[in-house]
Amino acid sequence: MFPARVETMLRPVIKRFSPYFALLKKVKGRFLAGIGAGFLFAVASGFGMPFVVEKVFPVIFGQVQSILDVRQALVEKSDEKTADAMLEEAFPGKLAQAHKLEIFSAQVAEYVGKEKAPVTILFGACLFLPIAFLVRGAAGFLNVYWTTQCGLEVLKDIQQRVFEKLQRLPLGFFSGRKTGDLISRVMGDTQMLQMVVTTVANDIVKQPLTLVSALGYLGYKSYQSRESFFLLLCLLSIPICVLPIRIIGKKLMLRAAVMQATQGDNTAVLGETLGAAREIRAFNLEDLMAGRFLAGLGRWTKLHLKVVKYRFLAPPAIEFVSAVVVSAALFYGARQNFSLEAFLPLVLALYMCYDPMKKLGEVHNRLKQGSVSLDRLEEILDAPESTPEPVSPVTLSTVQGAITFHAVNFSYGDAPALRDISVEIPAGQIVALVGPSGAGKTTFASMDPRFYDPVEGSIQLDGVDLRELRKKDLRDHITLVPQEAVLFSGSIEENIRLGKTSASPEQIREAARQANAGDFILQQPQGYDTPVGERGAQLSGGQKQRISIARAFLRDAPVLILD
Ligand SMILES: Nc1ncnc2c1ncn2[C@@H]1O[C@H](COP(=O)(O)OP(=O)(O)OP(=O)(O)O)[C@@H](O)[C@H]1O
Ligand SMILES: [Mg+2]
Repeated sequence: MFPARVETMLRPVIKRFSPYFALLKKVKGRFLAGIGAGFLFAVASGFGMPFVVEKVFPVIFGQVQSILDVRQALVEKSDEKTADAMLEEAFPGKLAQAHKLEIFSAQVAEYVGKEKAPVTILFGACLFLPIAFLVRGAAGFLNVYWTTQCGLEVLKDIQQRVFEKLQRLPLGFFSGRKTGDLISRVMGDTQMLQMVVTTVANDIVKQPLTLVSALGYLGYKSYQSRESFFLLLCLLSIPICVLPIRIIGKKLMLRAAVMQATQGDNTAVLGETLGAAREIRAFNLEDLMAGRFLAGLGRWTKLHLKVVKYRFLAPPAIEFVSAVVVSAALFYGARQNFSLEAFLPLVLALYMCYDPMKKLGEVHNRLKQGSVSLDRLEEILDAPESTPEPVSPVTLSTVQGAITFHAVNFSYGDAPALRDISVEIPAGQIVALVGPSGAGKTTFASMDPRFYDPVEGSIQLDGVDLRELRKKDLRDHITLVPQEAVLFSGSIEENIRLGKTSASPEQIREAARQANAGDFILQQPQGYDTPVGERGAQLSGGQKQRISIARAFLRDAPVLILD
């Protein structure tokens, strides 16, 4: 069967997303309610509207009453049986409907009196339309609201997952990447994934069901009579629709990949420019940076238009195919002298096959576009954590702080940064490392808190290999003051407190005094409560350095490294 073809096309793409659909489990009830509302919406629009037109309008316009009048006239000329037979042939089903209404009006007349009965029925009939719209509108709203709510929940989970993963990744992961691109992955690509999960989950149930039921209707009709022509038409044209969807989907995926990457580049340029406001002014680089940003924007606009082009090309292509097929059906129907009443439902069912095809084509394209974002996210989510945690960690009760390097070799890339280093630093000793720029001092310091693991050799703390300690425990024992002091936005006190979150204000002031920072802090307008600005922009380089040293003193770890 052809719907199976559609399914085989979608299945591999959906499979990639399935772990993320699993995130919907948490909001299962709400999501099912949303889909239920979608069903109600579909029924109200696909069935409710035609129902109102078919059943209620004849009552409102008195067609039912006039049939009874015609019957009366016929009965007078012949007998009841002949009259009924004639009417049934001319207007099939209408007579039964009229009788039902007759009985119904008699019942209504009992309550409101014979005079008011027609008005009451008319009023009741007129109520159907607003009620149908009310149900349809409310269901449509709830459908969108609930599925969006679930989608946002999924978005939150994915963003949190990526964020936490980024915290666990080794430093090496970041050195080859642009921060801006990573930001655009966490904020932008996750949103794409959220859109895929909700809209797709919503359509993947609704649309095939409509397709199958419309095909079922056509199949049933062709089994009953000779209208199998319609079913055949529909079945033959489905592969014609699937083909453009596939081709367009492939093109879309390529463009979407470049588009998302360009978005990342643009965020990176913006981030770098904002982070280096002083340097850009000093070197008169404003125009250069603006040019770079504009070029990026231009590239992105072009690619976005291409993506839009491919994404919105599939529906009109399918509509065109369906128009051709419906025309063929019209041609055939006219030649066969079909009555309008027999013909309309068939054409409607035919059309009902194309609408889901169109929607599923969109779903397919969205999945393609979404899988590009998924690639970008999985680059983060599946990145190896190259300094793994030990399986059975050793816990040190008291740490002396003796550090030993045993024939350590390390390289960032191909060129070695540390070659055959063996050092023994006993606990309680102060050791200074001297060497030219690029000699490897920072690298040496980074090995102790396990920012990197040695390629060969081993490092020990109090005789225990660092790889046998939990990273969190190890870093509790070692304090590293980096070459460039890094402050977070917040007050001076908050920045020092990061060394030990449980510290009392007195301990913080003592640590600041030890770091020679006490005096300048008290001269600040708000003392310890003075905000430092983003990355400490409101302080001098030396002041930042001292706050960062105070933070390290507060920590009071057995091993202190000043880079
Ligand atoms: N993240 C990195 N990726 C690749 N190579 C790196 C990285 N960090 C440092 N290097 C290289 O490793 C070598 C040692 O660098 P390191 O930062 O340890 O030097 P340093 O002695 O601290 O220098 P400085 O006195 O200038 O701070 C240098 O050749 C440098 O180019
Ligand atoms: Mg250094």
